[in-house]
Amino acid sequence: MLEFSPSSAGAETADTPCAVVGLFEGAMTEAASAIDRVAGGALARLRDSGDFTGKAGTTLVLHGVAGVKAPRVLLVGLGRREEFDGHAYARACGEAGNVLKGLPIKSAAAWLPQVEVPGHDADWRVRTCALAIDHACFRYTATLKPANGDAPRLAKLELAAGADAGRGLEQARALARGVACARELGCLPPNLCTPAHLAAQAKTIADEHPGVKLEVLEREQMQQLGMGALLAVASGSANPPRLIVLEYRGGGEAKPFALVGKGVTFDTGGMNLKPTGSMEEMKYDMCGAASVLGAFLAAVELKLAINLVCVVPAVENMPDGASYRPSDVLHTHAGITVEVLNTDAEGRLILCDALAYTCRRFQPQALVDAATLTGACVIALGKHASGLFSADDALAEQLLRAGSESLDRAWRLPLWNDYRNQLESAFADIANIGGKSAGAVTAALFLSRFTEGTRWAHLDIAGTAWNEGRKGYATGRPVPLLAQWLIDRAESR
Ligand code: BES
Ligand code: MN
Ligand code: ZN
Repeated sequence: MLEFSPSSAGAETADTPCAVVGLFEGAMTEAASAIDRVAGGALARLRDSGDFTGKAGTTLVLHGVAGVKAPRVLLVGLGRREEFDGHAYARACGEAGNVLKGLPIKSAAAWLPQVEVPGHDADWRVRTCALAIDHACFRYTATLKPANGDAPRLAKLELAAGADAGRGLEQARALARGVACARELGCLPPNLCTPAHLAAQAKTIADEHPGVKLEVLEREQMQQLGMGALLAVASGSANPPRLIVLEYRGGGEAKPFALVGKGVTFDTGGMNLKPTGSMEEMKYDMCGAASVLGAFLAAVELKLAINLVCVVPAVENMPDGASYRPSDVLHTHAGITVEVLNTDAEGRLILCDALAYTCRRFQPQALVDAATLTGACVIALGKHASGLFSADDALAEQLLRAGSESLDRAWRLPLWNDYRNQLESAFADIANIGGKSAGAVTAALFLSRFTEGTRWAHLDIAGTAWNEGRKGYATGRPVPLLAQWLIDRAESR
């Protein structure tokens, strides 16, 4: 994680290893003009020669620019001003981050937050710039040899913020911590990131923040609570399950908001074993858990004036002699019976007990879960939007808005009862799969049965939680969306 600080210097006079300035196609920004002026029109010549036109996605590192104190100037193309919006801004900041992480420097300073972005204020620009550059500089290290003798790495980022962007910086720090927490947990291999490890991580959060309360339920307590679905999924694994419950009180006597995250530390599919090609990335099946822990951490760091609980059912889904099987009927905490028709639809089984438990115990004023729940959601929305499901229009609207504001977007899909007969079972109250069509919808509908009477929304993050491929990392989504939603809730009290 980068350390962020404000800078009030001019781009041409600042004492920094690298000054980062933006240029539009056909127009300079204030910081670029300042550099161009002291450098005798150097940037104008680059533009006129076509060497650097300001096209979106382009960057150029200049060395020893005459008249400029910083030894390096990083030019960042902002594209055409007419097309410039929040997304273009964040993309340009991310491109700057991609270059900065490859330079042998420990710090840099960016004047990008001075650039006006339609629909957004200075706090947003500072925060978004800081987070985009931090995101680009993320590197997984947990199981790699220490990078001894490597070139220095970017650790500090100054942001030309103006006097009034302190709140933006503060939010950037908290969000960067939350996102980093989610990405590190997501990337950690499943032999290390077990249910017990997730619980240990929650303990670290609780230990570092007096006032945060942690409870970790083990198998025996889940048995007493009748959590037959959660326990069934856990039954094939040598790594025993945990039910993690974090509580933060910053909102007096108000009912809490609640976050619940799917924590399947590895999803083999169970007896319905996944084939080669479908299992390799299933260490990321705990990204829902990681993201609610990250959002909780961000909310606590910001000392938001709300009460908040965070509940994580953590299990591993393995085939074994003790595993649950297709056609088993499970008795859930809510008293609803479930026929297992596919052991690979395990996320909804651990969530149904965790959701019912959260509703009963905390009676939250709103409950949001995040889960890498269905491949069908990836087919529907790809990697750009999380699937959002809620019967509550106001809650759905809040979450969609938080997603746009944080550039961590969700898209609403239906939760209509029209789909309900797909979940009918001859042997239990409900089946755990709904057949071929509308897989993301039937999964969400399954969950809805266990949150009746509570304002609830579900985020299917199967497409957004990690970047696929051998070198794909966890993205940290939807930490920005969830944290923004909580910030908004605290501010709208
Ligand atoms: N963790 C998977 C969902 C998943 C699949 C996420 C691919 C990201 C990429 C989930 O537990 C699962 O296996 N879902 C099944 C459900 C099916 C058996 C009804 C799926 O989507 O295939
Ligand atoms: Mn599965
Ligand atoms: Zn899964």
